[in-house]
Amino acid sequence: MDKNQGNDIRRMFDGIAPRYDFLNRLLSFGIDCWWRRKAVLWLDVKPGERLLDMASGTADIALQAARRYPEGGVIVAADLSPAMLKIARQKIHRAGHRERICPVIASCEEIPFPDGAFDAAIIAFGIRNVSDRRRGLEELCRVLRPGGRLLVLEFSTPTNRLFRPIYHFYFQNFLPWLAGFFSSRAAYHYLPRSVADFPTADRFRLLMEEAGLENIVQVPLTFGIVTIHCGFRGK
Ligand SMILES: C[S@@+](CC[C@H](N)C(=O)[O-])C[C@H]1O[C@@H](n2cnc3c(N)ncnc32)[C@H](O)[C@@H]1O
Repeated sequence: MDKNQGNDIRRMFDGIAPRYDFLNRLLSFGIDCWWRRKAVLWLDVKPGERLLDMASGTADIALQAARRYPEGGVIVAADLSPAMLKIARQKIHRAGHRERICPVIASCEEIPFPDGAFDAAIIAFGIRNVSDRRRGLEELCRVLRPGGRLLVLEFSTPTNRLFRPIYHFYFQNFLPWLAGFFSSRAAYHYLPRSVADFPTADRFRLLMEEAGLENIVQVPLTFGIVTIHCGFRGK
């Protein structure tokens, strides 16, 4: 990974960590919880299966998975940002999942686990921030067992011509302005910029295939504000 870029991203998330969950709920009117629930349902974790929640942040996905799949195996919640993981640890502790969810400081471009260590992996609103996206996807694929699944939940740009202008106004103007009262306005200006720079679904499917993933399914949610991209590691 480009060290400087990685450090900038880490610092940005360290800075917004204290208000991260609150702003997610406020700025998405709570719909972000539904997107994560949907993604976790898609994961369909079987009893004993090991799950990696990469770029876990404050562990909303890991906690959701622990609740939804009580018979599942260990869940590793990995993230670059110590401040995000500190909040994750508190939430995991409060929810009584300390035995099940294991927070780890790690970069997506260098995942500190052996090949095939996980049955499934998920990265929610994270891959967009990974500086070396190609390498990140290769690493996520490497740590899956053959046939294991990767689910990427990420923002996308809505295609509906009527909805797009409303979305753009909200996302590019109103959201950073409102977020600025509670947290770093710069970080919430970065959000719409990074979404605009994110590859189209077709281009992202190609990146997933190049990383070794197969049978990719892509499902837009809520007018295409976010998309689920799901693929399987080749056997
Ligand atoms: C927008 S948050 C998403 C957090 C969480 N998955 C969620 O659904 O709310 C993005 C997270 O990605 C982490 N991150 C960014 N680049 C990373 C990388 N290269 N490796 C690991 N984590 C990374 C950040 O620290 C941050 O916690």
